[in-house]
This record gives sequence, structure tokens and C-alpha cells, in this order.
Amino acid sequence: MERRSRILGIGGHVPPRVVTNQDLTQLMDTTDEWIIERTGIHQRHWVEPGDSGAAMAAKAATQAMAMASVSPGDIDLVIYATLSPDVNFPGTGVYVQRLLGLGECAVLDIRQQCTGFVYGLSIADVYIRSGMYKNVLLIGAEIHSTGMDISTTGRDVAVLFGDGAGAVVVGVSDDPAHMILSTHLHADGREAEILWVDKPGAMHHPRITHEDIDAGAHYPKMEGRKVFKHAVTRMPQVIMEGMVQNQLKLEDIDMLIPHQANLRINEMVAKMIGLPPEKVHNNIHKVGNTTAASIPLCLLDAISEGKVKSGDLLCLVAFGAGLTWASAFLRW
Ligand SMILES: CC(C)(COP(=O)(O)OP(=O)(O)OC[C@H]1O[C@@H](n2cnc3c(N)ncnc32)[C@H](O)[C@@H]1OP(=O)(O)O)[C@@H](O)C(=O)NCCC(=O)NCCS
Repeated sequence: MERRSRILGIGGHVPPRVVTNQDLTQLMDTTDEWIIERTGIHQRHWVEPGDSGAAMAAKAATQAMAMASVSPGDIDLVIYATLSPDVNFPGTGVYVQRLLGLGECAVLDIRQQCTGFVYGLSIADVYIRSGMYKNVLLIGAEIHSTGMDISTTGRDVAVLFGDGAGAVVVGVSDDPAHMILSTHLHADGREAEILWVDKPGAMHHPRITHEDIDAGAHYPKMEGRKVFKHAVTRMPQVIMEGMVQNQLKLEDIDMLIPHQANLRINEMVAKMIGLPPEKVHNNIHKVGNTTAASIPLCLLDAISEGKVKSGDLLCLVAFGAGLTWASAFLRW
């Protein structure tokens, strides 16, 4: 059998500070009802001063490595997916490498926003299948709370996002009952500005001004309705693409683990492809949208609730800024 890859271990970490919708009503003009009705989110976690993406990631990675029974010297490559690096450069992956004592292994930071984890899984899979690496530590980690406009002006974005980290160890599989079957990656830059942060950016002279800060140019901007429409179009497409490639029927999917951007998006996606609600796992009510951390945290939640069994066929699907969208099919 040709060399294949599988997820050997998974871990997650969210900061202890819980911010409920009710808490947000103290900071902006919003209501618990509005947020729950539009998004399904009840609470999210926010970091406190002193926390970092690398530290959260290291906690998640430690769990994943323990489950995978690999030690620091076994990791050949770290892939760190985030849109919110701890510092402007270097990438955050090297800080995780340092915290975990991973020696001088390769480290790669990627910037695919909400689709980062699935892109990272694809990279890990290809490196392992090629024979170049044996164990890849893939992390999705995000700190949104320090980068959003936490006021009525920014409320459309600020209520959606939370902080957290998820990690998996991807290693070699010698068993077709447990392996990554396929990954499917897409992007379309034509509408990159419907969800973005403009400044600071190297194309600007200077990268940011005092006036820019006063105008909030450093906060994320989103055209929510357009993003919603793209998400409910692209996610069903990329699920179908994987089903066709793997010659799967809908009944073959044991659990869909969708990116957690909005419960209404995921309900619509499931309806469009005809998947019953019990075959879709969501944890957005607890953590909000944690971008690159979203899928591993959702998968971990499904596992801890006993909804994923050994050998189950899982479909991971994501959509995010860029625009980017992707799916992965695997036997757990
Ligand atoms: C953001 C989102 C929940 C907004 O829902 P919507 O039904 O499109 O709402 P709209 O943007 O049309 O706004 C409706 C009204 O609610 C208001 N509103 C926006 N955010 C609000 C908030 N947090 N609380 C209360 N009211 C809010 C708007 O100002 C608007 O008021 P108006 O009618 O007086 O102008 C929805 O568009 C969405 O989820 N989009 C996808 C976002 C996403 O997934 N992003 C991440 C992708 S990875």
C-alpha cells in the first residue's frame, strides 16, 4: 500500500475567561436574542493580558502529542495556521517550537484564515505521503479579542469571534481504516475585501497613521450578507467534490465537522446537501468563531461527546476570508 497519513492525536485549549452575550451588552448596543437568533453563539472565550497564541497552541499541542504518543524529538514539521500572529514577524510557529522544545524541526506559518486548518491538513498529508516527513504538528490558533472594535460600531464582527487553539499530530498510516482520504482546496481573490483588515499593511506609506487608527482602519471589516451567501454556496460544492472523488454516498458520511462561523450557515449547508442534523457537529454556542482553531476544536468537542468512533468517515469543511474554501475526507 502506498504511504498514507492519519490524525494520530488531537488537543485543544481555550482561555479561561468566558464572555457571554450578556457581557457584550455592557460594551455595545446588542442583545443576547439578536446574537443567538442570527448566529447561534451564546458565549466565547477571550484571552487576558499575558496570554499568547503560542502559549495556547503549546497547550493544545501537548495534548495532541500525548494522545499520539509522540515526543518532541519526533516532530519533523510544525504548521501554524492563523490570521492573528502574536507579533508581526516572525511567524508564531517558531515560538511554539521553542515552548515545546521541538529542536530544529521545520516550521511553516500559513495564512488561510478560517480555512487554514484544512489547508494545513492537506500540506501535512502531502509531506507525509511523499515520504519527506513522518510526524507533522498542525496547529490552528487565534486571538481575535485584541484586534476587534469592541463597540457598537464594530458589533457585527465583535459578537462573532472568539479566541482559542486546536492542534493535531498527523503521522503515517498503515491501515486503510484510519487515514486521510482526500483534501480539496480552493480560493478566489476577486472579493478579498468583503472580509479583511486593511492596515497596518506594507503597501501603505506609512503602514498606519494616527488618523487611520482614529478611523478604525486596523479593525476587521465584513460585508456579512455577502460572506454568508458565499459560505452556503462554496461549502456544499466542496463537500460534493470530495464525495465524487471518493465515490461516496451521503449515507457514508458519519459526521460533518464544519467550520464554526455561524450556526445558521451550517444548518443551511446540511439542508442543501441533505445531511440530517444529527450528522453535523457544532460547538459554536460555546466558543464562537475561532477561525483556524475552529475545526480542531469542533472535532475535539465531537470526540469528547462520544460522537466520533474509531474508523468513522468524517468530512471537514471550511470557508473563510480570501475568499478560501476547502474540505477534507478522512477515516478517523
Ligand atoms: C453577521 C451576520 C450575523 C449579520 O446578520 P444579518 O442578518 O446579515 O444582519 P445585517 O448585517 O443585515 O444587519 C441587520 C441589522 O442588525 C444590526 N446589527 C448588526 N450587528 C448587530 C449586533 N451585534 N447586535 C445587534 N444588531 C446588530 C445591523 O446594524 C442592522 O441594523 P439596520 O437594519 O438598522 O441597519 C450575518 O450576516 C453573518 O453571519 N454573515 C456571515 C459572517 C461570517 O460567517 N463571517 C465569518 C466567515 S468565516
